[in-house]
Amino acid sequence: MEFKLGLIGYPVQHSLSPFIHQKFMENTSIQGSYQLFETEPHQLEKRLEELKRADISGFNVTVPHKQAIMSYLDEVDSDAYRIGAVNTVVNDKGRLKGYNTDGIGYVRSLAEAYPNVFQQEKKALILGAGGAARGIYRALVKQGIQGISIANRTKSKAEGLLDLQDLHTETEILSFSEAEAALDNFDLIVQTTSVGMSPNHDEQVISLNKVKPHTVVSDIVYKPLNTKLLREAANLGAKTHHGHTMLLYQAQYAFEIWTGAHPQMESLVEQLEQRLRGNGYVNR
Ligand code: ATR
Repeated sequence: MEFKLGLIGYPVQHSLSPFIHQKFMENTSIQGSYQLFETEPHQLEKRLEELKRADISGFNVTVPHKQAIMSYLDEVDSDAYRIGAVNTVVNDKGRLKGYNTDGIGYVRSLAEAYPNVFQQEKKALILGAGGAARGIYRALVKQGIQGISIANRTKSKAEGLLDLQDLHTETEILSFSEAEAALDNFDLIVQTTSVGMSPNHDEQVISLNKVKPHTVVSDIVYKPLNTKLLREAANLGAKTHHGHTMLLYQAQYAFEIWTGAHPQMESLVEQLEQRLRGNGYVNR
């Protein structure tokens, strides 16, 4: 079987997904293609009809369609429904089902680098409360992390994450300055806002002054590869976890949903790093 895969979003021309999925196909000996479908908001419905007619096997969804697409799908997986965003769609003979692979991708990438970080007594701080934070919060709760704090510029938006837990997890909502003051309490700090993303690479959402050396500081921004926050974390002797690994593992989970095959990741993290370096996305 030949898999027809792709990405809808606007803009999409700089996406790394074709590179990643091409590698997955080589790695699993699966035949197929991964195409970019640049789609402005007013073109969404027409694009979905086109993709169904073209017998697409599945596709990823990115900005600005992750929420809007939900009303056009025949079914939405329960996690994606609770998170309120879809980034992966399967086409089953014209029936479209949506999933969200961000949270699980994040957890997989973190577990690969730091397997002990999910022990129950650990405390996590999430910075930000957007779509990515919702997926990651839900995945961390499911991992059994008992204490999670969420800090966001708009506090009310952080409160909106509380309805995402099925299992009980102690969750507190903080301001950024409260989070900075309590930083030495956390074993894991996850930065999910767009602060620090190229071209605003000189920005940092909070100061890490009080971070402890055993703490893992994780930034889901991958352009640049080493954000200002991660550079400060490394300078202070803390552990770091980079955003491009989440990008890879959320793609791995999407590929599994579409094809049933499990790509090996060994050299891919380095290959993606090289590609990001080639684009000049290292320290700027
Ligand atoms: P995503 O899907 O990538 O999570 P999003 O849903 O638009 O994107 O969420 C963006 C997140 O980045 C939010 O937490 C947002 O904070 P607000 O809820 O207060 O808007 C945060 N964010 C974006 N720009 C920011 C800035 N300059 N300072 C602080 N937080 C910022």
